[in-house]
Amino acid sequence: MLKINHRRELVEQEGRLHAIKRGKRGKFHFENMPWLKCLLKVIPKLIFVGELGRKNVLDIITEHVEVKLINLPDEFDEMVILFITDLHIDCMDELGEEILAAIRGHHYDFCILGGDYSFGWGRDNEKARKLMEVIIRQIKSNGEVFAVLGNHDRFSMAQALDGFGVRMLLNDHVCLRKGDNSVFLVGLDDCHYFGADDLDSAVAGVSKNSLKILISHSPEIYEKAEAYGFDLLLSGHTHGGQICLPNGTAIVKNASVPSVFVKGKWSYKGLRGYTSRGAGSSCIPARFFCPPEITFLTLKKL
Ligand SMILES: [Fe+2]
Repeated sequence: MLKINHRRELVEQEGRLHAIKRGKRGKFHFENMPWLKCLLKVIPKLIFVGELGRKNVLDIITEHVEVKLINLPDEFDEMVILFITDLHIDCMDELGEEILAAIRGHHYDFCILGGDYSFGWGRDNEKARKLMEVIIRQIKSNGEVFAVLGNHDRFSMAQALDGFGVRMLLNDHVCLRKGDNSVFLVGLDDCHYFGADDLDSAVAGVSKNSLKILISHSPEIYEKAEAYGFDLLLSGHTHGGQICLPNGTAIVKNASVPSVFVKGKWSYKGLRGYTSRGAGSSCIPARFFCPPEITFLTLKKL
């Protein structure tokens, strides 16, 4: 059953006005800088690397990551999560097939989708919904799919994914049971743009002593996640920078977090985390020195 989020509803109605209001926070936010999008489109063409940038978008890396967790019950040891985020699936026509090719032949117990299914933002996106249906049909043949929304998604995307058989976790949770033990998957609505995250509502009914995994589109929630006693935070949103310097340093993070949270494995006090570089591209269909990824996370008992 999908939870209606009135905060999200309000922001969707506000549209561009909300982006303008957010700009006053003084941070770099793509949503409030259409001129930056134009600039980013033109620069690669001017320096003759536009085609290379597009090719890089389709060069998806299959990452295999081990996450060691102290409180992991024995029954969940070696459990494999397929984590895909920031698909921006209508970014390029070939992207869906490339994502499926990167998954094919790999084992996983279930899949988590981390949000940002649409390339554009702030609009209803029928094309993205149709493309997501193809992806989900394939992924679901091997395991259950859980998902949150990102800052590019409207609520209509959650309704569509729900219709395709995805369990949406919008300020909600699900209990995974094995034998006498359980692990909680908790999902938040977008905290970055919509400010629609509600951790109190999401954890209502979650057992304090069980291992808890939080799915949040943006890692910007990391301090709260640690304070609420989560063991693991899975995020995307940053795209690892998407366009980076040759040493992999992100030029723009698009998130109010220290650099360590922008991509890969990290830890903060007792919280473990993983921020994916994302499977697609936003703003412009180009990547440099920051390949897209899908991720197989193996949970291991520490
Ligand atoms: Fe994204």
